[in-house]
Amino acid sequence: TTKAAELVERLTRWRDDFPTPGVRFADLTPVFADPEGFRAVIDCLAACAPDADLVAGVDARGFLLGAGVAATLGTGVLAVRKAGKLPPPVLTREYSLEYGTAALEIPGDGVDLAGRRVLLLDDVLATGGTLAAAAELFRAAGAEVVSAAVVLELSFLEGRSRQGDYPLTSVVRI
Ligand code: PRP
Repeated sequence: TTKAAELVERLTRWRDDFPTPGVRFADLTPVFADPEGFRAVIDCLAACAPDADLVAGVDARGFLLGAGVAATLGTGVLAVRKAGKLPPPVLTREYSLEYGTAALEIPGDGVDLAGRRVLLLDDVLATGGTLAAAAELFRAAGAEVVSAAVVLELSFLEGRSRQGDYPLTSVVRI
C-alpha cells in the first residue's frame, strides 16, 4: 500500500560502509519500531497471499515480519534458521555471500510441510541468494511457495532475477 511505502521510505535508516566498506546498509529498525509503520508493513505483506496456510520468515529480521503476518492471517509461523540452530533432522540449502557461503535450514520433521501453501518473507532483497535458498527448502519439503515478499528490494543488485516462479512483492523497490 502507499501508506506502507511512504513510512518505509521515511523511516529507513541508511548507513554507509556497514557491515563492510563499500556497502550501504538499509536498517529497517525504525520502521518496525513505529506502530503505524509496523502495522502498515504487516498488512501490506499479508495482502500478498491471503490464502497462504503457513507464513515463513528468514533469519533474523524476517522473523518479526513472519510472526506479525501469521497473526494477521490466522496461520502458523515458521522460522527459516541460519545453519546450526535447529536440532536434527533438518533440510539444508547453501547460498552465496559476497565472500564464501552460508546455509539456511528448516525442520526435517515435526511440521508436515507437504502440500502447504507458504508465504515467504524477509526484510531486504539484495542479491537474492538468501530468499532463493529459503524457497528451495520449502520446495524440497514438498511445500509450495505461493508468494514471496520483502519490505525493501535493492533492484540494482538484481536479486529478483535469481528467484523461482513464485510472485515476488516488495513494499519499496529502489
Ligand atoms: C540480510 C537480509 C536478508 C539478506 C539479503 O540478512 O536480512 O536476509 O541479507 O541478502 P541477499 O539478497 O544478498 O541474499 P543477513 O544475511 O545480513 O542476516 P541477518 O538478518 O541475520 O542479519
